[in-house]
Amino acid sequence: MGRTIRWERGTVVTVDQTLLPHHFKIIRLRTLPQVLEAIREMKIRGAPIIGVAAAYALALEAYRDRHVPRQQLVRQLRKAGDLLRSTRPTGRDMHRAVERVLSRVMTASGDVSRITLLEAQSIANEYERAERQLVKNGQSLIEDGDVILTHCNSGPLATVAWGTGLGILLRAWKSGKRISVIATETRPMLQGARLTAWELKHNGVPFKLITDSMVGYVLARGLADKVLVGADRIWKDGSVANKIGTLTIATLAKEYRVPFYVAAPMSTFDPESSPNYSIIEMRDPREILEIGGERIAPPGVKCLNPAFDITPAEHVSAIVTERGVLRPPFRRSINRALSGRGRATHILE
Ligand code: MRU
Repeated sequence: MGRTIRWERGTVVTVDQTLLPHHFKIIRLRTLPQVLEAIREMKIRGAPIIGVAAAYALALEAYRDRHVPRQQLVRQLRKAGDLLRSTRPTGRDMHRAVERVLSRVMTASGDVSRITLLEAQSIANEYERAERQLVKNGQSLIEDGDVILTHCNSGPLATVAWGTGLGILLRAWKSGKRISVIATETRPMLQGARLTAWELKHNGVPFKLITDSMVGYVLARGLADKVLVGADRIWKDGSVANKIGTLTIATLAKEYRVPFYVAAPMSTFDPESSPNYSIIEMRDPREILEIGGERIAPPGVKCLNPAFDITPAEHVSAIVTERGVLRPPFRRSINRALSGRGRATHILE
């Protein structure tokens, strides 16, 4: 499995996700402002890959100014960390990656630029391992013949290599389970129609694309056996921030008794705060008002454009992580997973 993002001779190499599915373009980012722009514009998007991109962005900044005095460089990196965090406030992964690199820089002695890069590389390597294990652990939830509904994009494009929710489905298919997928288009940025559809097609997985407003029809008519999505932040009580629309799907899944599964690495868990709408990113109204640059609403129309919503724990049937499949009561299973107990493929109940 290749990596979606990597460090190559002083550059960050990744795919421009805004151009898919029409063009598969590799981009090379050489500076912090270029990475900031790529994250803001969603050339790089998806919680885990954003975390790694942010860590690499700090490495780019440290390398560019490797000759400035240590204290000054540390101050500069902290400022860079604030800028990165402000681009996408909801996802836990980026915030954790930035904190981790900065705390390493502040505590380790030696060349700051080298320390920063080494830490960023370890973060990327840890993601790769976690994703691989998570995808393995998720296989216990998928049965031969299942039809699984997914939302947004949680495949390899959104991560370092293996994906999370969609990664589980791709592996289930490759291992011979005859599954099929229902993918929501995911308004307004169409990650489902553009990216999930591209990844499913590329891997030969049978699927149907629906608009977000068709989820009620699909679940009420029993057309999906389960729902599986990724996550941007998971709190200790098991509530989940994920792409806008997830709450609607989870509520409908509960109403029609369809299991609702979430998949995310432990780095997405937030052990400190509580579910909080104040961290929900609000994006440019043009994402709603225009399609492909073409205005669709009358002039002067105002929009509400939250990028994420929060699904309460009681709607979630299980959370797949690299430490196992966590089940309710989540306070207990998440606490055990966070403290490192219940490793590998154990099912925590
Ligand atoms: O706004 P995006 O495209 O970055 O949002 C992405 C999602 O909500 C994904 O479901 C989530 O990050 C999980 S990706 C493995």
